[in-house]
Amino acid sequence: MSYTNPEIIKAQSALAAEFEKLTEKKQILRSKTLESLYGALRALPNDQKATYGKELNELKTEIMSWLNKVEDNQKQLPPIDVTAPFDVNTSKDEKQMLLPVTQGSIHPLMTELQYIVDIFGRMGFEAVESRQIDDDYHMFESLNFPEGHPARDDYDTFMTTDGLIAPAHTSTMQNRVLSERKKNLEAGEAIAVVIPDRVFRNEDLDVTHEHTFYQFEGVYVDKNITVGNLIATLKTFMSEYFGQDLKAKIQPFYFPFTEPSFEFAIERPDSLKKGDTEADQWLELLGCGMIHPNVLKAAGIDPTIYTGFAWGCGIERLVMMKNSIEDIRHFESGKLDFLRQFS
Ligand code: DAH
Repeated sequence: MSYTNPEIIKAQSALAAEFEKLTEKKQILRSKTLESLYGALRALPNDQKATYGKELNELKTEIMSWLNKVEDNQKQLPPIDVTAPFDVNTSKDEKQMLLPVTQGSIHPLMTELQYIVDIFGRMGFEAVESRQIDDDYHMFESLNFPEGHPARDDYDTFMTTDGLIAPAHTSTMQNRVLSERKKNLEAGEAIAVVIPDRVFRNEDLDVTHEHTFYQFEGVYVDKNITVGNLIATLKTFMSEYFGQDLKAKIQPFYFPFTEPSFEFAIERPDSLKKGDTEADQWLELLGCGMIHPNVLKAAGIDPTIYTGFAWGCGIERLVMMKNSIEDIRHFESGKLDFLRQFS
């Protein structure tokens, strides 16, 4: 654009320089230089207003075109992957400088969770994350705890005023994984899933009880699945986890979503040996059982054709045993002295 008014010509180059420097480009519209041009327009005699005003409008249009250009350039930038561990726009050399991370460390629960999922991966189980907010249907109804069922009291957790629930166990995912994978069964494949995540309980806190902790759930369904398969799977996992061949046993228990239901125990591994009594010999580790026919039906699976087993196990307890940690509350405390021991 070409201007004839010397004041506008001067202002145009001043504004261009100012625009160049601004980080928030839109601020140019509030520039003092621009403001004073409008001030000068108001002060001009009427017969000069038209020519001056026309050039001032042209200058405004030019500024708007600068702004539009910046906006177009921004639109063309590649999207940023906020989950990437480094800026996707950094060069390969810069990335190498950023990695490996020298500060901070992986939380001990996450290291353990990865180890657990890895063992199950090698046993043919797919890992699916649970969720940290759910509803009554997934937390209770679909797991065969109808409204008013007394066992609901064992899963006292936190609820929002509109009825959403902070899950008290990872079993809340059973209906989802079964419904989504019933097509596997129809295709002649088993459903084999391990589901780790955080769970929440309204607990009185002490060295072994936390309101927030981790579990991993297991679900396996196919034709002709029996308690024998359940015991063999868990025994294999525990032997791999503790690095030695271990005996296992089950004892009767009650859960609404399994029939029969059990508590699963293993022989104490050498690293955790205690006294000599019968009770000292065994470690009770988790709840498990054969998936209740009503749970299979709620997911659209015919319990006269398919059967399966499930379990739920706390992760903190395993990590505490393995590392002689005396208080479960250390995990969520954020205490660096504690966390640094695992880096
Ligand atoms: N959800 C139970 C709990 O947190 C644990 C459990 C027991 C999970 C038996 C299961 C199961 O899948 O079959 O106490």
